[in-house]
Amino acid sequence: MNQTEPQALAADTATPVVAVVPRINITVFCSTQATQAAMQQVVVDRRMARAHVDVRNGGIMSAAQAYSQATTPEVLVLETEGHRDQVLSELSQLAQVCDPSTKVVLIGHVNDVILYRELIRQGLSEYLVAPVHQLQVIDAISSLFNEPGADPIGRIVAFIGAKGGVGSSTIAHNVAALASGEDKVDTIVTDLDLAFGTAGLNFNQDPAHGIAEAIASSDRIDQTMLERLLTKCGERLNLLSAPAQVEKSLGIEDDTLEPIIDAVRSSAPLIILDIPNLWTVWSKQLLIGADDVIITSTPDLASLRNTKNIFDFLTAARPNDKAPLIILNQVGVQKRPEIPVAEFSKAIGVEPTAVIPFDAHVFGTAASNGQMVGEVGPKSKAAEQISMLEQLLIGKDPEASMKNKGGSALAKLLPMLRKK
Ligand SMILES: Nc1ncnc2c1ncn2[C@@H]1O[C@H](COP(=O)(O)OP(=O)(O)OP(=O)(O)O)[C@@H](O)[C@H]1O
Ligand SMILES: [Mg+2]
Repeated sequence: MNQTEPQALAADTATPVVAVVPRINITVFCSTQATQAAMQQVVVDRRMARAHVDVRNGGIMSAAQAYSQATTPEVLVLETEGHRDQVLSELSQLAQVCDPSTKVVLIGHVNDVILYRELIRQGLSEYLVAPVHQLQVIDAISSLFNEPGADPIGRIVAFIGAKGGVGSSTIAHNVAALASGEDKVDTIVTDLDLAFGTAGLNFNQDPAHGIAEAIASSDRIDQTMLERLLTKCGERLNLLSAPAQVEKSLGIEDDTLEPIIDAVRSSAPLIILDIPNLWTVWSKQLLIGADDVIITSTPDLASLRNTKNIFDFLTAARPNDKAPLIILNQVGVQKRPEIPVAEFSKAIGVEPTAVIPFDAHVFGTAASNGQMVGEVGPKSKAAEQISMLEQLLIGKDPEASMKNKGGSALAKLLPMLRKK
């Protein structure tokens, strides 16, 4: 329980060292003017420059109502003026709508160490006693992500093509654009196709050579350096871009990427790895280490064979993880003999998660203009399939999100409270 007196902090000339808060969504519900005033200071603080903060009026019940239909952000900060039983009862209602991985910080008006211990034991991330100082709030949020042993923020989704040119990068970039745009999930695209990467082109940017510099200094990469190397492509979309130059042959040593991926992963909730069609020690390591793997394939024999080999390899190497998802792309090219979807699925042993038709107009226009498929052909089957894939990956697919609701740390409160 953070009980630092606000006056003491304000009077202290030696400002405490508080780490920068990563790119996350934070929603605050506060019910007193004093907390509202502190929050106005939180929002403008330099340490919050990367985060998106939404300050609203209300308490725990306002949050429970607001999120009965919507997804909860990475962090919820809630103020309550209630006493012990009321706090526990209101939190149990919030727990029913709280998404997995949402961290809840409570600002309470009761300085009760027993209540504090109980709340922390039951899944609350932090309890602060009002009145709060802005730096106390920032410190509480920052510590959730920066302390040793803190959960990594970023979910890593690795995209690889079963052979060259199957559309893996295009799909990866479109998923990133949807997640960071409509769904407001801060996303970093890491383009690992050093010589030929297209992320800069597809996002209509002429970016710095982020990934090349990161590789050159991988032994000393930190958040400050990463910040300098990222290219901003949208309010919530950043790119660690490939140099796309052939003069220098840039190699990736086997363990160069690990510190870079760790740094990127500490910076935003969604990390899209655009891995070229290469089978090397580092590409295998990235695929094995990812939270989700997407293999993009086309309906021909070489793609089928490679997809099967990659799928079987990764399923064996990740026995406790979700199997890779398969996207069958560029389906239905006129006059081209193709392996039918049913036969393709039978040979691999799983159905493709999405089947995307060959659409020369939509994909060609998007590639030429640096636009996304959904902008060029919002009603196209390709846009619909990519959107479905994106919803699935960010856990917004209706079935998945119903299963997820109530899975958060806070949701553990529910059964415990019911027993009382
Ligand atoms: N469904 C589709 N219909 C038509 N064109 C497509 C489709 N999907 C991708 N393309 C086009 O295919 C080309 C190759 O796409 P992309 O660069 O995304 O593939 P890749 O698998 O990442 O290739 P590389 O092996 O070069 O990394 C691009 O011009 C893209 O616009
Ligand atoms: Mg590619």
